Amino acid sequence: MRLKHALAVVTGGSSGIGFAAAERFVSEGARVVISGRDPGKLQRAAERLGEHALPVIANAANPDDMQRLYETAVGHFQCDVNVVVANADISRQTPVRETSVKQFSEVLDINVGGVYSTVREALPFLARPASIILVASLAANQGTKNFSAYCASKAAVVSLAKSFAAEFVEFDIRVNSISPGVAHTPIFDSLGMSEAQLMQWSKAIPMKRPAEPAEIAAAILFLASDESRYMTGADLAVDGGMSGISPF
Ligand SMILES: NC(=O)c1ccc[n+]([C@@H]2O[C@H](COP(=O)([O-])OP(=O)(O)OC[C@H]3O[C@@H](n4cnc5c(N)ncnc54)[C@H](OP(=O)(O)O)[C@@H]3O)[C@@H](O)[C@H]2O)c1
Repeated sequence: MRLKHALAVVTGGSSGIGFAAAERFVSEGARVVISGRDPGKLQRAAERLGEHALPVIANAANPDDMQRLYETAVGHFQCDVNVVVANADISRQTPVRETSVKQFSEVLDINVGGVYSTVREALPFLARPASIILVASLAANQGTKNFSAYCASKAAVVSLAKSFAAEFVEFDIRVNSISPGVAHTPIFDSLGMSEAQLMQWSKAIPMKRPAEPAEIAAAILFLASDESRYMTGADLAVDGGMSGISPF
């Protein structure tokens, strides 16, 4: 039991990687608070996680929502927060010629502003030691056609993890980021991508398949647990070899 009695908050815990992380945390002895904006989806996820999970509707990009989320979490479980996973984000295509500055900013507001709120509002409620994991992406370091807003947002998330790590190291709070490559989650439905297209994409992955959410969750668990206690300010690539192996 690597997270016995720990309290973890996972934003975007109702789906995909966030849900898989919450599920793994519960199996390792943690209590989890999961958040999202869609009440039905969140409730169904909490029911699947069982009695150790508390759903709280909260928009990660809204600091008031995040403050209420932490107050609710600490009040309900009567302990400080040991682990925060800033995972919630939106992924949408933003071809430059068809995307206004306002639309570009909407992606940054959630993907970068949301991570900032998630971490900033957590500070008064954190135990010592604590571990914060920011979910970034391989896209942080790779330009991707029609995804400039998403890629820029993920580059910012990797950078935020390093600056947060520098600022909080004296308080015994570790901050790392994780960069998945392609994982098999509902994010691709929201992009209008079919299963066949996802499998086509996967041919470019050295391991020739997308990750299962549980495989990303295993790496998040490592960063959450004491086993990574000498790591802070790092970015962990979990991408089937995409960032490290040349396609040639
Ligand atoms: N899947 C991949 O291939 C992949 C690759 C690299 C990185 N990632 C990263 O992994 C993370 C999770 O992605 P996923 O694939 O698991 O996506 P997903 O299945 O679409 O899940 C996204 C989650 O975030 C929540 N969410 C979205 N906007 C939110 C907001 N403003 N406030 C609170 N919750 C919000 C969603 O619930 P509601 O819609 O109900 O709010 C949902 O629970 C993201 O940061 C993503 O960029 C994914």
